[in-house]
Amino acid sequence: MNPGKRGFAVFGIAAGVILIGGTSAMAAGNQAEGKKIFDGICSSCHGMDGVTEIPGIPVFSNGERMDKDDAPLLESIKNGVDNPGNPGGMSMPPYGGGPELSDGQLADVLGYVRTLKK
Ligand code: HEC
Repeated sequence: MNPGKRGFAVFGIAAGVILIGGTSAMAAGNQAEGKKIFDGICSSCHGMDGVTEIPGIPVFSNGERMDKDDAPLLESIKNGVDNPGNPGGMSMPPYGGGPELSDGQLADVLGYVRTLKK
């Protein structure tokens, strides 16, 4: 086999894997894993099941912020949000103050958050 062609075949397979991975990251993630992360780290502010009365904390059970696309929400979870206009003077630390999450875990936790709207 001509090595040039073989390189192309390998590249094609790698591109396919990246595409599939990309699609699943935009989908619902693993919600059971996401719930574990949420209950352990995020619920201290956002509340169990996304129900909270803390001023300035988005209430996910009301679907707050869920009109945004995945990409900006994932960025907010990664980098935290320090918004001087927050009504309660609250900010969110990167990863909610917990350990760094992989892209897979970020998709899991956002997938779970998206299920909380009642
Ligand atoms: C220390 C409290 C605190 C913790 C813990 C916390 N958050 Fe937040 N979160 C906030 C605050 C405050 C905001 C709103 C910031 C703003 O826009 O003013 C927010 C906003 C968000 C948003 C909306 C961001 C946007 O772009 O509009 C998402 C999504 C979110 N949090 C997810 C999470 C997840 C997932 C976790 C756990 C990994 C988590 N939060 C942990 C305080 C917290």
